[in-house]
Amino acid sequence: MAFIKVGTLTELQPGCVLKTHVDGHPYALVNDGGKLHCVDGECPCTGGPLGDGALRGGLVVCPWHGWRYDCASGVCAYDDSVKIDVFPVKVEGQDVFIDVRNPLNG
Ligand code: FES
Repeated sequence: MAFIKVGTLTELQPGCVLKTHVDGHPYALVNDGGKLHCVDGECPCTGGPLGDGALRGGLVVCPWHGWRYDCASGVCAYDDSVKIDVFPVKVEGQDVFIDVRNPLNG
């Protein structure tokens, strides 16, 4: 498996977080001011859905208890020993692709 189409730029406007799944696992797509990121969609706290979260100042905010993760590095803002995986994103035309094989920050 390589890059997989998971959405379009129309769905992922600046400031948005979009939930997607690959092989049943959740991921969160983020448009931080036009720069796209993909992070693991499962919050390390108790499994909250980060793809249903919000983007605040470059941080993905979990909708369950508010843990925040840097969308570029995956590092938790409250405890830098906690980190979520970040994955490559590419755009072709209007289509957004992710590659979940090799985390960028693994
Ligand atoms: S499940 Fe995400 S902050 Fe608790």
